[in-house]
Amino acid sequence: MLRSKMFALLSVFLLSISWEATSDLDHENFLHCLLNHSQPSYPISTAIYTPNNESYSSVLQSYIRNLRFNMSTTPKPLLILTALHESHVQAAISYAREHNLQMKIRSGGHDYEGVSYVSDVPFFVLDMFNLRSIDVDVASETAWIQVGATLGEVYYRVSEKSQAHGFPASVEPTVGVGGHFGGGGYGNMMRKYGLSVDNIIDAKMVDVKGRLLDRKSMGEDLFWVSSPNFG
Ligand SMILES: *[C@@H]1O[C@H](CO)[C@@H](O)[C@H](O)[C@H]1NC(C)=O
Ligand SMILES: *[C@@H]1O[C@H](CO)[C@@H](O)[C@H](O)[C@H]1NC(C)=O
Ligand SMILES: *[C@@H]1O[C@H](CO)[C@@H](O)[C@H](O)[C@H]1NC(C)=O
Repeated sequence: MLRSKMFALLSVFLLSISWEATSDLDHENFLHCLLNHSQPSYPISTAIYTPNNESYSSVLQSYIRNLRFNMSTTPKPLLILTALHESHVQAAISYAREHNLQMKIRSGGHDYEGVSYVSDVPFFVLDMFNLRSIDVDVASETAWIQVGATLGEVYYRVSEKSQAHGFPASVEPTVGVGGHFGGGGYGNMMRKYGLSVDNIIDAKMVDVKGRLLDRKSMGEDLFWVSSPNFG
C-alpha cells in the first residue's frame, strides 16, 4: 500500500465577511493588491480571470457540476484565481484578509452543492485545477499529491509505477482529491487500510497568515487536528 503525502490547503480558517468593505472596492485596487503579494519569479497575472476577461465564463463553468448553478442569476465571483504555484495560494489568502472578501476554494471534483463557487456575499474563487501534480515514489511507498488532482489521476499514476500498490480512497475516479481527503476519504480498501486521511503522513498548507507550513513546521497538534480538513 502506498502511503500518501499530500499538498493540501487548510480550509478551516474563517475569513470574515464585510459588505461595506467590498462595496467601495474598485477592481484596479484589488488586482493591484494581488499582484503586489505575488513573488516576481511566479507571476500571478496569468492566473487572474476577472469578469472582463473573455475566458472568465468558461473557466468558471468548466468545474460547475450542477447546472442549477450555471444560471445568469447565480452569484458570480469577483475574480477567479487559477493558482499556478503555492505562492499564489498565499497571495490569495492575504488578499482575502486585506479586502474582507470571502474566498471559495475549488478542487474541481464532485461539488454538486456549489459551495466551492457560489456565495451570497462578495467572494472570489481560488481554483486549484492547475495544481494537480502527482509524484509517486515507489521506493519509499509515498506520493506527493496536489489537491487539484482527481482520484482517477492518482490511481493511474500509481499504477504506472507499480501493479502492487494502491491508495485507499473512493471508487469514483472523478472525485477531487482536495474535497475527498478533506472529508476523510471512504472507499473499498477501508476495512484493511482505513480512510484516506489515515494514510496521510505529511501535508503542506497555507495558514490564515499566509504562511506555507508542512507537518514539521505546523507541529503535531495542528497536523492531527487539521488532517480531516485538508481540502
Ligand atoms: C505592497 O506590499 C507592501 C508590503 O508587502 C506594502 O507595504 C505596500 O503598501 C503594498 N502596496 C500596495 C499598492 O498595495
Ligand atoms: C485573460 O486572462 C488570461 C490569464 O490571466 C490572460 O492570459 C489573457 O490575456 C486574458 N485575456 C483578456 C482578454 O484579458
Ligand atoms: C452553462 O451555461 C452556458 C451559457 O450560459 C453554456 O454555454 C454552457 O454550456 C453551460 N454549461 C453546461 C455544462 O451545460
